[in-house]
Amino acid sequence: RVGGRRKSLSDLLLKDVCLHLIIYQIKRKAEEDIGVITIKSTVQSRAYSPQHFYKNRILDQYVSQQVNTITLRQLVVFGRNLTEERLLRSGNYVRTELPIRLAHRIRDFQNLPFIVGTNPHIAMVYDLYWSAFEKLRKFPTITNLDENDEFCDTVKGLLKDHLVVIPQLAMGISECSQHLHPDHLDRFMNTMFRSRISRRVLAEQQIALTENWNDPGYVYGQDGHDGYIGIVSTQCNSGEIVERCANMTRNLCRTIYKVEPPQIIVDGHANTTFAYIPDHIEYILYELLKNSIRGVMMKFSPSLKDVSESPEFLQKFHKFQRLKSLENSMDSSSTYPPISVTISSGSTDLYFRISDQGGGISDEISPHIWSFASTSTLNNKFENFAQVPQMAAKVHEYEQLIIPPTLHLGIGLPMSKVYTEYWGGGLTLFTMDGYGTDAYVKISRLGNREENLE
Ligand code: COI
Repeated sequence: RVGGRRKSLSDLLLKDVCLHLIIYQIKRKAEEDIGVITIKSTVQSRAYSPQHFYKNRILDQYVSQQVNTITLRQLVVFGRNLTEERLLRSGNYVRTELPIRLAHRIRDFQNLPFIVGTNPHIAMVYDLYWSAFEKLRKFPTITNLDENDEFCDTVKGLLKDHLVVIPQLAMGISECSQHLHPDHLDRFMNTMFRSRISRRVLAEQQIALTENWNDPGYVYGQDGHDGYIGIVSTQCNSGEIVERCANMTRNLCRTIYKVEPPQIIVDGHANTTFAYIPDHIEYILYELLKNSIRGVMMKFSPSLKDVSESPEFLQKFHKFQRLKSLENSMDSSSTYPPISVTISSGSTDLYFRISDQGGGISDEISPHIWSFASTSTLNNKFENFAQVPQMAAKVHEYEQLIIPPTLHLGIGLPMSKVYTEYWGGGLTLFTMDGYGTDAYVKISRLGNREENLE
């Protein structure tokens, strides 16, 4: 009954049709305007269909299997002595291991409160995981090099499809944080990201080993081009890595603020070599240096305008070309207090201490810095999320989803911790509110720590 008048069935149907038309129009407009990614399967069909029931029985079989963890050293030793038989064996390990790791995470999604699982961003990632799980578990045993190449092509496609996972999950949690206890949310996100790193390591290592194997100029029995074995560099140089990250962050700062950034001074054991995945250590140091630079700039020039958030900047921004940022920018003069990076090489671990005078972190913010969920900083953290769908829509256009470095997803610090702990290291902050912060990164030099997935 509406307004005392009983609605006829045709009235109701008309209303329903109109509603659908309106929703359709809004959706079309949104897609035109901001390139919203269409979410293929609806939550309803996923949760209740009989097909879903049978799929879950299969999932159970995978969830009941233990993950077989690896160490960095195993990756190096295995890849250094590669033979055709070993390449196929590692292909089959990745083929069987990825669905197990995905199954555990799919189950985590299923254990989320219903309201969280129905969030479109979360649901999108859930669907991506199911689809990858199905593709990988159905891939037949690899028995020769052609089949291995085919497997690598499948995995490359999945790696590309999953580039949207981080921004989508981050948007999802920002929208649902009130429905989930912050501890639960943090546990969920930590496990999701750790597991994602692990799956990408396995996938990328197999692809890289296969590419090396197919390269006639590649000499086995030695560490390959530039000391690489697959995606692991056996000759990471502590000082060079810091310098590379320093240049990237300083160039970024010039682009955003249009001023000369603080100097970054490197001291200590800056000539230590170690085996690591350069992308991992670079992610950590880049994020920490970015925080330090931002802290110093904001403390000493609070009126600086961040041009990165202007629509013109974002429109022009297509790709953050990391390589271009490698040009040396270490010795330009700056009026800001420098940031220092001290490196210490112990017998088993390597340490990086990043010290800034960026004003430190207040007691109010401190308890939340490691949280993906912190409600007190949530508005700040996710203020730019409206831009993420535009970026995500560019995936196919640019081959790679590049999250602009200026787009503060607000998860850089907890993500850096996830990366550090993944190979058994640690990340700690000591802060003096009003003065500055010291960040300590500890990583294992020996590469003998198992992947940390918990
Ligand atoms: C991811 O990037 O989230 C993945 O799971 C990649 C994997 C399916 C190859």
